[in-house]
Formats: sequence, C-alpha cells, structure tokens
Amino acid sequence: MASLSPVLKQATPVVVDHAFGSWIFGTDGEQYLDFTTGIGVTSTGHCHPKVVAAAREQVGKIIHAQYTTVMHKPLLELTEKLGEVLPAGLDSVFYANSGSEAVEAAIRLARMATGRPNIVVFQGGFHGRTVAAASLTTAGTKFSAGFAPLMAGVHMSAFPHAYRYGMDEASAVAFALRELDYLLKTRTAPEDTAAFLIEPALGDGGYIPTPPAFMDGLRDRADRHGIKLIFDEVQAGVGRTGKFWGHQHSHAAPDIIITAKGIASGFPISAIAASTETMSKAWPGSQGGTYGGNAVSAAAGVATLEVIEEEGLVENARLRGNQMLAGLKEIQTRFPTIGNVRGIGLMAGIEFTAPDGTADAATAGAVQQATVEQRLLTLTCGPEGNVVRLIPALIVTEAEIATGLERFEAAVSAVLGAPAIPAGVGS
Ligand SMILES: Cc1ncc(COP(=O)(O)O)c(C=O)c1O
Repeated sequence: MASLSPVLKQATPVVVDHAFGSWIFGTDGEQYLDFTTGIGVTSTGHCHPKVVAAAREQVGKIIHAQYTTVMHKPLLELTEKLGEVLPAGLDSVFYANSGSEAVEAAIRLARMATGRPNIVVFQGGFHGRTVAAASLTTAGTKFSAGFAPLMAGVHMSAFPHAYRYGMDEASAVAFALRELDYLLKTRTAPEDTAAFLIEPALGDGGYIPTPPAFMDGLRDRADRHGIKLIFDEVQAGVGRTGKFWGHQHSHAAPDIIITAKGIASGFPISAIAASTETMSKAWPGSQGGTYGGNAVSAAAGVATLEVIEEEGLVENARLRGNQMLAGLKEIQTRFPTIGNVRGIGLMAGIEFTAPDGTADAATAGAVQQATVEQRLLTLTCGPEGNVVRLIPALIVTEAEIATGLERFEAAVSAVLGAPAIPAGVGS
C-alpha cells in the first residue's frame, strides 16, 4: 500500500470533487469560495467552458506532439496570440512546462547571450523549487535549506520593502538602488553580471508590489551596463495585477519575460520571450524538453487568452482588486494585529504583526485555517509566514469579493475575538 509523501504540505484539508468559476466543491459536501486559484493559476476560473471545450477538442486530435520532433498547430497559434500581448520587441518565444523550468531557461539564455556568469536577485524573490530556481529564491530558507550546495553565481540585493524598513516608498527605492550599485562595485562587477531577475510583485515573498520607480531604476542600470533585465511574471502576469503584465505599472520593459501559471487556466505550460537577436545568441538545441509546449496545454492557452480578451478580465482584475483592497483596509482598521494590507489587482497580502512589531506567523496561520472553516480558501506567504494572501480568479464578481471579505473578517474575528471597533461605527 502506498500513501502520499509527507514532503507534501497541504494548506487545507479539502479534497476536491469538482469546481467551477470561483467555487470548489469538496467531497465533504461543502462549497468553498476559492481565493487561492491553485496559487494564481486558474485565471479564467475553474473549468471555464471555452477552455474546457478547447482542451477536449485537442485531446481528440493529438495529446503529445513532441516539439523537438514535430510541431503542432496549438503552439503556433499560442505563439501568435502571445505576440499580440508581449512587450514590443520580444518576438521570440520558447516553451517549457513549469515556472521553474522557464526561470532556468531564462537564466541559461541570459548567460549565453551575454557570456557573463552572475545573476542578481532581490531579497524576498521566489523563482521556483528546482535546484537552480531555488538558488535564485530568497523568499525563505525553507525553499533551499538542507540540500546545498546551490547553484553558484547568484547574488542578492535589497528589495525596496518600505513597510519592513519603516520607510516611505521613495526612500526604500533610493536605498535599494544604492545597495544594488554597491553590490555591482563590491561583489559582482557589471562585466560579470548577466542579468537582474525580479518579480513585478513579490509572490511567495509576501505579496508586495515592486515599486515602479525601482523597476525603472533597474532598467536604467541594465541599459548602462549591458545587463539583461528579466521579469519573472509567473505569478503577476496574465492580467492578475490589473494590467496584462505586472511590469506595465512601470515604464520599464524587460529583455526577457517569463510566464506560466495563469497563461493556460490550469494546464501546465510556461514560456520565456526575448528578442530574436537575444534568442539567436543561444545555440539551437540549448533549450528543449520532452513535454514542453504540450498540445492540450497550448490549446487551453489560446482559449485562455481569448477569454481574457473577450470578457475584459484585465479590467475586471483592476476593478475587483480595488474593491478587495479597499475592503481589506477597512477590516484592518478594526484589528490592530493586521500591521499592513497591500496589493495590486487581484493579489492582496494581509500581514499580521505582534504588538512589538515582530512578525506574527501564529496568527496568520490560524486565520488562514479559520478561513477554511468559513468556506473561504486562502494561503499564507512571506519569509516569516505572517502574511495571508488572497488570489481570486480574474472572473471573480463584485458579489464574490464581498462574500470573500465577509468570510475573511469572520475568520479573523474567530481567531482574535470580535473587534473592539465594530464595522460601520465611526465611518
Ligand atoms: C514568481 C514565480 N516564479 C516561479 C515560480 C515557479 O513556478 P512552478 O511552481 O510552476 O515551478 C513561481 C511559483 O509559484 C512563482 O510564483
């Protein structure tokens, strides 16, 4: 008899029977409002009819058309559709299966294109769990402890985390850019630096939007030193932040972009895009894989991009994100233990802090568990585990956000007791 390995840690006890839109139906007979979306994956909601139909049709045609052996139509169509949304000049696309694989592909490409060894990452960044991706990840030692040695050539610089440093955003950005310049003088010379790798909003690192001025500062330094700027849009991309790409809140454009998660509504596929000039600096065959760019995933990807466009989901993410953030900030006024509420689009982080200002992971964990009791699925994140994150699907409705906020507040009250200042009083 076999059982699932204890290395898997599950955030909820829910066993899914089926799911639709923003809702998961458990084998326990309960109906859960899903504000996890499989960690930001089911962008068009669970089982969107158009995505289901596209996948069903493709399964009957060909499932695995191995892309280093034969090419298939869905991948060509997906490339064409992606071309409509990719930043200008990024006209060459390579596909893999997961975010981590795409991150590794981007690093391989940056090193080959520049002939330089080193990668600079920013504190709190999460880039995946394969050994190279884990080497680039600084969102918590839990992602790399116990299996050293990690990949060499990775250097970490400060992230402008204003709340953590007790600074305003402009001061945090100035500080982090000064630290980066210092790193380039003290540890990794520009001529040894292949790439800066950053998320437009930290994901596992605590749901912290990257200040646009910092993104612009990175672009400026990348241009000055011939360093490739890589945006890891695995979690923040595909409409989630209220723009199609998370970096579009800044003026900065990437040299290499990484996408996965929301691109195919739950089917595994990932991609990197760069200019043809950059891609052609890597030798043919330097990237590949057995399953990359799977035909069913690619067909689901085409359908996903169509649904996002047809249903105006990027704008919906912006509007519903504003609603969610405003509601959370209102809840924060009633619970002093909520130290910080932040977010961008449909990425919201609620940070729990003890009276002495230290991270309160116990409360965040208890609240996340209590949301399940309220039939709302949420996750935690942050290097110290003290942030609850909400990641609804891009199709989420106004009423569903309102229900989610009610259930979230009920969960916080269940853990912390009824608020000293009840809702509505004084407002
Ligand atoms: C920003 C970012 N990059 C990379 C990854 C790794 O993706 P995967 O888990 O598909 O390997 C993730 C996963 O959460 C992510 O959020």
